[in-house]
Amino acid sequence: MVLDLRSSEWYAGDDRNAYIHRAWMRRGAPDDAFEGRPQIAIANSASDLTPCNAHLDEVAQSVKNGVYEAGGVPLNMPVVSLGETNVRPTAMLWRNMAAMATEEMLRANPIDGVVLLGGCDKTIPSLLMAASSVDIPAVVVPGGPMSTGHFRGEPLGCGTDVWRLSEEVRAGTLSQESFLESEQATIRTRGHCNTMGTASTMALVAEALGTTIPGLAGTPAVDSRLLKAAHETGRVAVQLVAEGRTPSSFLTRANFHNAIVALSAIGGSTNAVPHLLAIAGRLGAELSIDDFDRIGSEVPLLVNLRPAGRYLMDDFQRAGGFLAVLREVRDLLDPTALTITGRPLVEYLDDAPVWDADVITPRDRPVQPAAGITVLRGSLAPGGAIIKPAAASPHLLKHRGRAVVFDSIEDFHARIDDPELDIDADSVMVLRGCGPKGYPGMPEVSNMPLPKKLLEQGVRDMVRICDGRMSGTAYGTVILHVTPEAAAGGPLAVVQTGDWIALDVRGRRIDIDVPADELAARRPNQATLAGFAAPRRGWERLYVDHVMQADTGADLDFLVGSSGSKMSRESH
Ligand code: FES
Repeated sequence: MVLDLRSSEWYAGDDRNAYIHRAWMRRGAPDDAFEGRPQIAIANSASDLTPCNAHLDEVAQSVKNGVYEAGGVPLNMPVVSLGETNVRPTAMLWRNMAAMATEEMLRANPIDGVVLLGGCDKTIPSLLMAASSVDIPAVVVPGGPMSTGHFRGEPLGCGTDVWRLSEEVRAGTLSQESFLESEQATIRTRGHCNTMGTASTMALVAEALGTTIPGLAGTPAVDSRLLKAAHETGRVAVQLVAEGRTPSSFLTRANFHNAIVALSAIGGSTNAVPHLLAIAGRLGAELSIDDFDRIGSEVPLLVNLRPAGRYLMDDFQRAGGFLAVLREVRDLLDPTALTITGRPLVEYLDDAPVWDADVITPRDRPVQPAAGITVLRGSLAPGGAIIKPAAASPHLLKHRGRAVVFDSIEDFHARIDDPELDIDADSVMVLRGCGPKGYPGMPEVSNMPLPKKLLEQGVRDMVRICDGRMSGTAYGTVILHVTPEAAAGGPLAVVQTGDWIALDVRGRRIDIDVPADELAARRPNQATLAGFAAPRRGWERLYVDHVMQADTGADLDFLVGSSGSKMSRESH
């Protein structure tokens, strides 16, 4: 069968331009490399500065083998890589840049299909955003979680346990020396964080969307089955091109429905909300923040993993893995949603047993009965805010307290442990200036550490409100993604210390108990909000000028939708 390939616009023919394109790409390739063979890019986010993805070069080699075997030509394509623990001011500032750079390079080059290699938090979302906009056949290989580390006989969940141990130091229940000793035990192997943080979540969500080989996501980074699956994915990518199966041809609202059900059942990271909204925006799929509440809030939590539970990703795979979870909620899934194989996701669930019901619990014995994300609205968040009740303290889900306001994360750090700070366990901690525009980039600071003096009294959770995000490995009664953010003129900008704030998660309300006319009278002061100064140049300027709010995915306004794969102008 002769394939109608996009790359033939570069390689086919006898003219000077085709000569140039072929000649420079020969590099020892066989003569038929440019004669109807799908050119498959391997969008590879391996980088020594992204330790969670550093092993992806080896994964890429397995993909290459599969591509060759199926008759395609594999092409390694390094992409912008974002290491969550290194990149400042926050990796989220660069997610859209990574997506834009990958999108443009996929369009600009003679590529027929792409295999997306990601792992660390922002890498899979940015790659899926890019491939969705270009709309060429694309399939994801998640790099997999790292193996469990142990400290003094106890398993360590990377991310989650750093927060816990550092709080113990502040509370005086762990020595600084012991804390530092644990550092060596946290990251033992290649792979991304091994809790149900953002990386694990986005890998599983990519599978729920149908963009991986079913059964692949969650495979540990050190597991030889990851390489086997990568090899198979290479073959699948060639097949996708042959069948013309582009993201827009099968990624519909039904797929996002399944992703939201899965997100709730696994107790996944709140970061999946803006990522899924941004991916849907690229595809033109109808999805709103309220869909997360409507579809997911009543879905039971079936995965007993940190930060909400006890176990780690090694245990998750041992217990049956992602398909076993999906089988438990099969009736909630949309049976029409297809995967990259062309078959519906639900068809892969017949033979997906649970081997350890303490890790993946049965539907009638959930970790929590209703675990999804709840969307709050009210006078403090007219555009919406979210909370993950599964990670919150039940006694705080309905609460009224006095605001203690911090104008920036620096202001917070400067004052939080001041013994004179007027704050108690019933106070509501408010942090602003951390939204997409305000920071800029919407950092993971919403789960503010509690005041030392309250920790010493045994307080372990308080209501916290912020226009930023929080780490997928964090926990607590945290209301985040407040929209509009303070720097965009939202009510958060005019809250004052001492104002009463009312939270009612069941009623889906977050309100400031200040008369509307008084709030309006405060507005002229918002321009003085500390910490927000519009950047003058570079990506930050472009970002601040064009970033949208969290309720629509925090993408840039001019990147929403599809660019398409057509690139008609020649380079010579
Ligand atoms: Fe990379 Fe957690 S730091 S996944």
